[in-house]
Amino acid sequence: MPEPYSERVMDHFKNPRNVGEIENPDGVGKIGNPVCGDIMEMYIKVKDNVIVDAKFKTFGCGAAIATSSMITEMVKGKTIEDALKISNKAVAEALGGLPPVKMHCSVLGEDALKSAINDYLIKKTGKGLPGWKPRSEEGHHGKH
Ligand code: FES
Repeated sequence: MPEPYSERVMDHFKNPRNVGEIENPDGVGKIGNPVCGDIMEMYIKVKDNVIVDAKFKTFGCGAAIATSSMITEMVKGKTIEDALKISNKAVAEALGGLPPVKMHCSVLGEDALKSAINDYLIKKTGKGLPGWKPRSEEGHHGKH
């Protein structure tokens, strides 16, 4: 069978970076996809508006693990504003692409990051991301 995943996806799946939890995190995000049942948790540490550390725990498919590994690498050293600009497509591109049926797994990654930032902002300013709702948890119609 031909390998449907890029080498980079396989690398991040087999050797995920930044797995685990951060002690006393500044923001925690937890997102689940109601369709596949996969769950992602993300932890961020923020100093002077810059994400200095990010870790994750993903109970899910290989593409979700690879996405969370990549996104935690991408956000480190970024300001909150720049981190918010990271789209699931950008993460999928950085991984050398994902099969179309696996794009929702990268949405889970983007959502988990935004959820962690949302949590950070609520703790810091009392207000979260204006109008933000996780795309992964939006209503899905039917059973597939
Ligand atoms: S199949 Fe659920 S996140 Fe990939």
